Amino acid sequence: MNGNEMNRLIQQIVDRKILVGIIGMGYVGLPLVLRFCEQGFKVLGFDVDPKKVVALGKGKSYIKTLPSSRLSTFVKNGQFKATDHFSRLREPECILICVPTPLTEKMEPDLQYIEKTSEAIRKNLRKGQLIVLESTTYPGTTEELILPQLESTGLKVGKDFFLGFSPEREDPGNKKFTTHQIPKVVAGVTPACQEAIKALYSQVIDQVVSVSSPKAAELTKLLENIYRSVNIALVNELKMLADRMGIDIWEVIEAASTKPFGFSPFYPGPGMGGHCIPIDPFYLSWKAREYDFTTRFIHLAGEINVHVHYYVVAKIQDALNQQGKSLKGATILILGVAYKKDVDDARESPALPIIELLQKKGAIVRYHDPFIPALPRFRKYNFKLKSSPLTEKLLRHIDAAVIVTDHSQIDYPWVVEKAPLVVDTRNVTQGMTRWKRKIVKA
Ligand SMILES: NC(=O)c1ccc[n+]([C@@H]2O[C@H](COP(=O)([O-])OP(=O)(O)OC[C@H]3O[C@@H](n4cnc5c(N)ncnc54)[C@H](O)[C@@H]3O)[C@@H](O)[C@H]2O)c1
Repeated sequence: MNGNEMNRLIQQIVDRKILVGIIGMGYVGLPLVLRFCEQGFKVLGFDVDPKKVVALGKGKSYIKTLPSSRLSTFVKNGQFKATDHFSRLREPECILICVPTPLTEKMEPDLQYIEKTSEAIRKNLRKGQLIVLESTTYPGTTEELILPQLESTGLKVGKDFFLGFSPEREDPGNKKFTTHQIPKVVAGVTPACQEAIKALYSQVIDQVVSVSSPKAAELTKLLENIYRSVNIALVNELKMLADRMGIDIWEVIEAASTKPFGFSPFYPGPGMGGHCIPIDPFYLSWKAREYDFTTRFIHLAGEINVHVHYYVVAKIQDALNQQGKSLKGATILILGVAYKKDVDDARESPALPIIELLQKKGAIVRYHDPFIPALPRFRKYNFKLKSSPLTEKLLRHIDAAVIVTDHSQIDYPWVVEKAPLVVDTRNVTQGMTRWKRKIVKA
């Protein structure tokens, strides 16, 4: 493919005469499907999970924040199809990779999903295709891992095919910013790759921000997540100190937030959660070792954010003790097991280690979460717990309710009124002075 042919690809993109392939139909892939469809593109979604492919084929969404009604329109009019036949990767002109990038048990990058995807693309690569990695990963993944695999076909990057990285910034449940409103950072392996990527995303995203290399784009995403991780750790550490000093950290954060410059508030909680913040920073720590470099902030933040789980459990234990009860044999209700409010995702939720610690200490743990009817099996945990209906009878029966996730639809004043003891990690009980004797902030 020469420069003219690249211009032809860009023209096809602008004219919506391309098929967009999106690999990984999850929290990141599905919103992209919708956005491309809404902007008039045809999309072919790929996933290894046949159940998801069947559901999508029927126009059914399995993600709470993405209603089926939005999806089914594009299934019905033929704009969107899903498949688990990876030989069909030959069909799309543009392929976006949105597969998981978790950690192994030793906290090292688990690259098997990217490797398998890259291999599937290699087998089907043809001239004129644009491949973009969106999964969060360490600087160098696109050029050191994917590029050699794709060039082993004999096709040349920037000439025969195009490759780059554009980090996903999806924030599930965020009502203020939807996919197209969140600026997209893009980088190509060569200038031609850069042109093609810019042309593609400019069709669907309001602002596209170019950086000079895939490595810079990969590190941009990590910086964003490390920034959150470190700041959350900072307020969590100060929360534990403030508690010892008899100061309400929430009041302090609100007061500090009145400074109109130089301060961005972060809020303490039961520990970090989600698929990104507790995981992604360690992709960089791992890569840094190759450069004989220790990422001390990342490790310290990880350490503090894990310590918070123990702190919360200790606060529950102390609060029960105040009531003459022991944690062993106590019935504890965890309110909210999702990693953050109003989402149906419990991956890496701080509720999970807290439940495990409580069970190890002999507590009987129950939970209520309107978004998660049963706790699925996780790599590290398999609790076999189902959400209990939140009734007055339940609240009178338990020894303590622990607010781990502050879902909006829970009537917290009612919970506090009925429960014998409430341990609040999210400050939702602020101002409930009437019951202050049975509220403990943790
Ligand atoms: N969830 C978020 O809020 C978020 C935000 C920004 C970035 N990210 C990053 O985006 C990437 C994807 O995250 P996610 O939350 O969408 O994950 P997810 O688990 O919701 O979705 C991933 C999908 O990929 C599928 N899959 C796994 N292996 C595959 C393969 N070899 N081929 C095709 N499909 C495969 C899975 O079945 C699943 O449906 C990760 O790197 C994550 O760090 C996630």
